[in-house]
Amino acid sequence: MNNMQKTYVPAENRYDEMTYNRCGRSGVLLPKISLGIWHNFGGVDVYENYRSILWYAFDHGITHIDAANNYGPPYGSAEANLGRILSTDFKAYRDELFISSKAGYDMWPGPYGNWGSRKYLLSSLDQSLKRMNLEYVDVFYSHRPDPNTPLEETMGALDAAVRQGKALYAGISNYPHELTRKASQILRQMGTPCLIHQARYSMFDRWVEGGLLDVLEEEGIGCIVFSPLAQGLLTNKYLNGIPEGSRAAKANTHLDSSAVTPEKVAKARKLNELALQRGQSLAQMALAWLLKDRRVTSVLVGASSVNQLQDNLKTLNRTDFTEEELKAIEQILAE
Ligand SMILES: NC(=O)c1ccc[n+]([C@@H]2O[C@H](COP(=O)([O-])OP(=O)(O)OC[C@H]3O[C@@H](n4cnc5c(N)ncnc54)[C@H](OP(=O)(O)O)[C@@H]3O)[C@@H](O)[C@H]2O)c1
Repeated sequence: MNNMQKTYVPAENRYDEMTYNRCGRSGVLLPKISLGIWHNFGGVDVYENYRSILWYAFDHGITHIDAANNYGPPYGSAEANLGRILSTDFKAYRDELFISSKAGYDMWPGPYGNWGSRKYLLSSLDQSLKRMNLEYVDVFYSHRPDPNTPLEETMGALDAAVRQGKALYAGISNYPHELTRKASQILRQMGTPCLIHQARYSMFDRWVEGGLLDVLEEEGIGCIVFSPLAQGLLTNKYLNGIPEGSRAAKANTHLDSSAVTPEKVAKARKLNELALQRGQSLAQMALAWLLKDRRVTSVLVGASSVNQLQDNLKTLNRTDFTEEELKAIEQILAE
């Protein structure tokens, strides 16, 4: 019998191995490893494969699934595919799941399908809820700052989403640190504190260390890190070239093959040696390196197979680093 015909029964021991971090100064606990559906869950992808990934995630305590309106391709299809699984396999488990969505990038044509207006955010959220067969999302994010819309309007839309019961919490993504502080203050005044900031962070991209993490700590906002594996560059995937079927080899992804530079590969090879000495894969060491910072609530990974998720979850077996290891990592990254 293949997966399509099977009935999903979640593992009874699904909470035994995952550990959870408090999200900022809120009541919410998030798994140290969360799953995103940006790639591999769209209309172009294989149902049985992403269904197995979602099952594996939930069976291992990954309660948090991150979506956005335009994930696919085509736009909307990742939410629709997730919705199908939420309303069948996961129907009885909505209260054990923490689902997010976002709006902020291009979604539909015309002046109301992009950026940060109240008009766009609230109609997009309605569309996301329909696609996912949900009454509410746990977090609704402004996906990026909009330089041409007053911050009060964008934050007001998040506040309205929460007051309408369509989202339980508000979040922001890709906001630089000073704007994050302002957004947080506006939301607090409105009575809807900002729960979480979603930011790109990895050994290869450390912009959040230049002020954002400090602001998040001061404001009591959690930090969920996206592309923690630099879309696969911080795994063993590209150590010997660009494999067929990988994100860098595919069309319509945000990882161009030109991003797999000899410099990045040389660093990844050295990091890989260090990881092996620690008894870890490079992916596991890259995730552990992020989780060592107590301001990082969760790392939001992508996966194109159950095996990758399995590999990534083993990170939790070793998240500590010696001073020497940390110094060696800094040295490799600085070379
Ligand atoms: N807020 C935002 O603006 C924003 C932007 C981007 C992403 N996100 C969120 O963050 C999530 C994660 O982003 P991401 O997919 O870029 O994260 P990532 O974890 O850095 O990259 C995931 C990719 O790395 C490869 N991979 C993962 N684990 C592996 C392993 N153990 N061994 C070998 N290769 C492995 C796979 O590539 P292959 O497909 O090549 O196998 C996988 O698709 C997204 O799904 C989305 O929810 C948010």
